[in-house]
Amino acid sequence: MAVSYKELGFVNTRAMFTRAVDSAFAVPAYNFNNMEQIQAIIAACVDTQSPVILQVSSGARKYANQTLLRWMGQGAVEMAKEISKEKGLGEIPICLHLDHGDTYELCVSCIETGFSSVMIDGSHLSYEDNVAMTKKVVEYAHKHDVTVEGELGVLAGVEDEVSAAEHVYTRPEEVEDFVSKTGCDSLAIAIGTSHGAYKFKPGTKPLIRLDILTEIVKRLPGFPIVMHGSSSVPQDAVATINKYGGKMQEAIGIPEDQIREAAKSAVCKVNIDSDGRLVMTAKIREVFATKPEEFDPRKYLGPARDALKEMYMRKNKDVLGSAGKAPEIIALLKK
Ligand code: G3H
Ligand code: 13P
Ligand code: ZN
Repeated sequence: MAVSYKELGFVNTRAMFTRAVDSAFAVPAYNFNNMEQIQAIIAACVDTQSPVILQVSSGARKYANQTLLRWMGQGAVEMAKEISKEKGLGEIPICLHLDHGDTYELCVSCIETGFSSVMIDGSHLSYEDNVAMTKKVVEYAHKHDVTVEGELGVLAGVEDEVSAAEHVYTRPEEVEDFVSKTGCDSLAIAIGTSHGAYKFKPGTKPLIRLDILTEIVKRLPGFPIVMHGSSSVPQDAVATINKYGGKMQEAIGIPEDQIREAAKSAVCKVNIDSDGRLVMTAKIREVFATKPEEFDPRKYLGPARDALKEMYMRKNKDVLGSAGKAPEIIALLKK
């Protein structure tokens, strides 16, 4: 039997993005695949009073099971309430989002099991097919008050199972037509970010095309824009991984000052996954190397979770500007 996300305590992205546009910050969209990641995300977002989008990718669904991930999301809502109460803090808005949905059927299945937002990624299709598929998802989703993210342009690297050698930057001249034809609620764009830890060729200057973003914003004033592939690849985590036996050479991400700049504009949602993977791996490798006698998973996953929480808190406070924004979104939702 279908369940509405509202019964589970999630919110869609509408109020989050309205405040993000008006108040010049971006909502963090963090991917999770396991318990420690979701605990760290929730703990960090409650402590910083940040709204949050919990993202489930297709890799996550294969690894952990879509139903279990949905229940973990629901558990996270309850956990957030509990921590807020204990600490005398306010509630935070939590959205459960399908990351890179590739079919209409998958979007429907997520909506029926309680997701409050879905991405339909038709960026690898022809423009006409992308419009048609996105429109079909929007029509179904809006009947359930679920918000939809579409994508125009292709990020280089691996987008779930699809990989592209080159970026195909979003064409600003297409965005108005795409948004008006599909009715999507937010638009993911390709401006030089990419998925994973190796975003730029070694020796080149990491630079995203903020000029294309400016062009897009001119044509869609106030419309919520999404940036995928926005990990910054913390060099201290890469160094720790390599110090303790890892082999990650020349991993380069998007400099945080460029993410900060984008977050102040119409970019309302910033997707970060790889940074969490790196921080977690670094801590686990460190524990394995420095405390080889440990064999209890809590003794290495616990410290990894603490390091993750610290990283998410810093992103919310220093990069995305989402810290302290939960109360105004909650107020808007209650209007
Ligand atoms: O879209 C990319 C995300 O980092 C998810 O990747 O499918 O390996 O979980 P994944
Ligand atoms: P990163 O690989 O840069 O963390 O991007 C994650 C992402 O875009 C998920 O959709
Ligand atoms: Zn992505």
